[in-house]
Amino acid sequence: MNHLWLLASLLAFFDLALGACECGYAISNKNEKVVFTDLLESDFVHLDITDRSGEYGRYGWAAQVFNKSMDDARGPYGETFTLQNVVSKNIADIKVFNEPGEKGGEAGAHLVVGSEIVDGMVTTSEIATTDLHFFYGTFRAAMKVTEVAGTCSAFFWYFNDTQEIDIEFLSAQFNKDNGTFPVNLVLQSSESSEAGFDASSTKDFKRVNLPFDPTADFHEYRFDYLEKEVIFRADGKELARMTGSSVPTEPGHLLLSHWSNGNPGWSRGPPKTDATTTVGYVKAYFNSSMDSRRADFVSRCTNPTAEGAFCDVPDNDPTYFFTYRQNMTNNQTTYLDDENAGGYVGLWWSFMLGATLASSAWAIGL
Ligand SMILES: *[C@@H]1O[C@H](CO)[C@@H](O)[C@H](O)[C@H]1NC(C)=O
Ligand SMILES: *[C@@H]1O[C@H](CO)[C@@H](O)[C@H](O)[C@H]1NC(C)=O
Ligand SMILES: *[C@@H]1O[C@H](CO)[C@@H](O)[C@H](O)[C@H]1NC(C)=O
Ligand SMILES: *[C@@H]1O[C@H](CO)[C@@H](O)[C@H](O)[C@H]1NC(C)=O
Ligand SMILES: *[C@@H]1O[C@H](CO)[C@@H](O)[C@H](O)[C@H]1NC(C)=O
Ligand SMILES: *[C@@H]1O[C@H](CO)[C@@H](O)[C@H](O)[C@H]1NC(C)=O
Repeated sequence: MNHLWLLASLLAFFDLALGACECGYAISNKNEKVVFTDLLESDFVHLDITDRSGEYGRYGWAAQVFNKSMDDARGPYGETFTLQNVVSKNIADIKVFNEPGEKGGEAGAHLVVGSEIVDGMVTTSEIATTDLHFFYGTFRAAMKVTEVAGTCSAFFWYFNDTQEIDIEFLSAQFNKDNGTFPVNLVLQSSESSEAGFDASSTKDFKRVNLPFDPTADFHEYRFDYLEKEVIFRADGKELARMTGSSVPTEPGHLLLSHWSNGNPGWSRGPPKTDATTTVGYVKAYFNSSMDSRRADFVSRCTNPTAEGAFCDVPDNDPTYFFTYRQNMTNNQTTYLDDENAGGYVGLWWSFMLGATLASSAWAIGL
């Protein structure tokens, strides 16, 4: 028998079994299936989001440049968010995740807070999605948080100052001696606005101690923004659930920031040495508020009962991206590093071949 032909038909079979995820990406919440139609997978280990040779917001993210005065920053220092403080340290080989980046240091997007004050401001960093259409979703970021005291590392979803979902790490709160590593979980709402944006005095604020040291390694921090509740997790394990009128009702965008303004009640600092928080990836499975994306979903999802119409989102798997699997992101917006596109094709081929050969060794008589 012609092995190539056999391989081709096995690949076709395997595709079917893999599914095309055309009806969406699923998670479970209290044993119920929750489905999202769209994805944005951002592999910062391999994508250079600071590459400005292409169009603005290449790969769906852009480093933000703005200044916050002392008064706006609500601290003794202002903040200057600069391009220089966002550094992409990438690995060229798309199959390799766990090595230093080519510019040295941990691979990923480095968000830096400088120790030097410039014109009364702390130099800080922020990246944001260029799309604003994230309307419900499960949002995950792999982060290794700075251990330098006096900064705030934040992963958040934002519509406006009273519709915001926030995960914030205050490095000054970490205590390695007694093993205490809190994370602050917040819904900014009209109540926190009335409290002068001190959400810590509202019910939509929880400080939870993590069962690990967030400065020692990458962990997956996640919030699920659903219609009636927001669930916060670390490495898939629930940290908190918030419900009620503070749950946002609008579409927004995703951001990661690292800042300090010397405010003794929050970030403290500024840090004594430059501080870096590294982001390995952001994975967003979400519903879009855009009419065109909703219409795309309707024409894509023709048979929800078909095998593989829905794909389960795995938890806390740093190397798993639907984007890197064949036929699991049809009609989705995906980003591959142009220079590495060859490596990417190689990746799914070796994945497909490996899986196919393993599952069909009998067929080819190996
Ligand atoms: C991908 O999945 C679709 C079904 O959604 C199917 O029509 C198509 O043939 C598949 N493509 C490949 C290359 O297997
Ligand atoms: C997302 O959109 C799909 C398609 O309209 C819908 O079935 C699903 O329930 C929505 N998910 C949430 C969390 O609202
Ligand atoms: C922020 O402040 C710095 C220092 O004063 C200045 O050089 C820079 O142009 C300002 N940036 C913006 C975006 O206003
Ligand atoms: C945020 O948006 C909501 C909904 O549109 C609105 O009710 C609220 O006033 C806005 N908050 C601010 C601070 O603008
Ligand atoms: C650990 O130390 C911090 C102060 O840095 C304190 O707030 C916390 O209560 C201590 N935790 C334990 C378990 O002793
Ligand atoms: C999805 O499919 C529609 C209809 O073919 C097309 O207009 C749209 O550009 C596609 N979107 C993406 C992101 O591939």
